[in-house]
Amino acid sequence: MALPDSFIEEVRARTRIVEVVGARVKLSRRGRQHWGLCPFHNEKTPSFSVSEERGFYHCFGCAAHGDAFRFLMNTEGLSFRESVVRLAERAGLRVPDETPEDRAREEERKTSLDVLEEACAFFEARLKEKDAGPARAYLRSRGLNAETVSAFRIGYAPDSRIALKAHLAAKGISQAQMAEAGLLTRPEEGEPGDLFRNRITFAIRDQRGKVVGFGARTLLPDGKPKYLNSPDSAVFHKGQTLFNIDKARKAAFERQAVIVVEGYLDVIALAQAGIAHAVAPLGTALTEEQLILLWKMAPEPFVCLDGDAAGQKAAARAMERAIPMLRAGQSLRFVMMPEGVDPDDLVRKQGIGAMQKALDGAKPLIDMLWETQVSGADISTPERRAALEGKLLSLVSGIGDETVREHYRRELKDRLFGLFRPSRPAAGAREGRASPSSQRRSSQGWGGASTRTGNGRERFGRFEPEPPNPASLKSSSLAQRARAQENGRKSAEIPARASLLLAILVRHPWLLDRHYEEVEQLSFAEGPAEQLRHELLAMAASRAASGEALDTAAVQDHLARLGFALDKPPLTATPLSVFPFLAENAEPGLAEEGWRETLLLHRRVTVLEEELRAARQAYAANANEDTEARLRLAERELERMSEEDRAKHAQDGIVF
Ligand code: UTP
Ligand code: MN
Repeated sequence: MALPDSFIEEVRARTRIVEVVGARVKLSRRGRQHWGLCPFHNEKTPSFSVSEERGFYHCFGCAAHGDAFRFLMNTEGLSFRESVVRLAERAGLRVPDETPEDRAREEERKTSLDVLEEACAFFEARLKEKDAGPARAYLRSRGLNAETVSAFRIGYAPDSRIALKAHLAAKGISQAQMAEAGLLTRPEEGEPGDLFRNRITFAIRDQRGKVVGFGARTLLPDGKPKYLNSPDSAVFHKGQTLFNIDKARKAAFERQAVIVVEGYLDVIALAQAGIAHAVAPLGTALTEEQLILLWKMAPEPFVCLDGDAAGQKAAARAMERAIPMLRAGQSLRFVMMPEGVDPDDLVRKQGIGAMQKALDGAKPLIDMLWETQVSGADISTPERRAALEGKLLSLVSGIGDETVREHYRRELKDRLFGLFRPSRPAAGAREGRASPSSQRRSSQGWGGASTRTGNGRERFGRFEPEPPNPASLKSSSLAQRARAQENGRKSAEIPARASLLLAILVRHPWLLDRHYEEVEQLSFAEGPAEQLRHELLAMAASRAASGEALDTAAVQDHLARLGFALDKPPLTATPLSVFPFLAENAEPGLAEEGWRETLLLHRRVTVLEEELRAARQAYAANANEDTEARLRLAERELERMSEEDRAKHAQDGIVF
């Protein structure tokens, strides 16, 4: 039995022919097509082309030609139905069992499309009539010309409960069919009449250009709702299509770019200004289906939302929805409109150049993530910094693609490292020694460095760290363990490696001069170790200012007066004698080697510990398979690391 046309179209819409063909033929992109060696005849130079835009392959050598379904039929010997089923599964669609209801729905769909086409033509015709004067005036006031009005099939729904209904009835369309097409008020509201009254109508078209519904704007200054949209129906699913998808698709392929804006009028104003590759959702937040459609058009769609609070929120939501779906080369870019300005205002008042400028300033998703989460965050205490980090890493842990996830995690760690790095102890004393990493950050405007306003760690107002909700903790043993370990950490002692690092510096203070930046970037838990680190930095800074080299005896003397000594806490945690580089008379090369290696280990452990903490938080906040897997992985990695470490020291004859 045949599959419904609507289903076949749905599968086609979700299939990238370049991927289907690419699984068998090595393709490379040239212009708007992909090219490869034809699988249907023998050739040495590629004459086989695939067009994502048209959904077809074509061989200029042997004239083989077809769509994704035909390709599978001809290369794998599948039947048409089998090839549809194969691609449906690939796209995650369930193949409908054919029931009489399915067939009825398919019939209904076909009828609805016809009914909607009639209605659209009706509204367009009404716009040209006498009583549509105010409607035409309104469109003029919005700067739309006649060409645009007809290209977008803009119309006018008269101020009447029966105008459309009577018109359609005269064409032999039943009231039930009108209702199925979503054109009537609901029976609960009395005898069903025209849904759209005294409104400008915008035709919403599907990928093939067929009218599937309307968005209708009130003409009254404060009419409610401002936009009334067709209800979902057999042919209209708000979350699964985009306004202007048919026209934008073509333009998007040409430029390999697509822009998502908020409103119908934004799309239309942009098109009239010459930017044809814009689409809009239909009054709801961007859905996964819509993101898939966008990524079929271009690898990095621009999300261009209004500069008001609602627009910002919508952008953040789009970002969060997109994160799990990121893949290599597949992301979003965010365009910030000035406050109170939408793309329609922008092109109308400032021209297309202003819009182009806004697009040029688009932020990659990683920057958007960083800014929405970090700017305004309070990072004044270790707990708050940990909360911020946990939140960021748990967002990123949702990325399905392993490679992309890893890259995100690394980049965020890197940025956090820069953000959390304490400022220099003696400002001015070490001019000209700004670390390369901080220069890199500020020049790229990553937001990490540039959000700093003065000395020390700033307080940001907005972000309230959210403690994991205890109610959401499952009482599995893993959760209990996670909690117990979390509590255990608070009273944890200075890890041996921190002591070791400090001991090396106290023993060989000259290392401070050569590794000042590294010491500066370290950060221990508040306590004696951190205090000692600050003391060392301060000494190095004031020595550098006076131009003198650090004198070992003087440093140790000074520290002793403050109560720090190599044989006292926090330094005693280190078995001094077993590390040759801690010997008083150790060769400088050996001492430096010891510093380097210890620092490296410290950093690796810190990163792993941070990940473990974030993984625990993620698990505590939401215990599921994913967060559990992440937690176990983090535990395993840390365990492996300390085992390696032990093994290595055992080799050197050192036992902790
Ligand atoms: P906006 O309120 O931002 O309107 O809604 P706009 O596009 O700038 O409209 P104009 O310029 O005042 O005419 C943006 C989009 O949100 C949906 C519509 O899709 C609209 O285009 N919307 C808005 C609704 O669905 N219903 C509403 O009541 C308002
Ligand atoms: Mn607007």
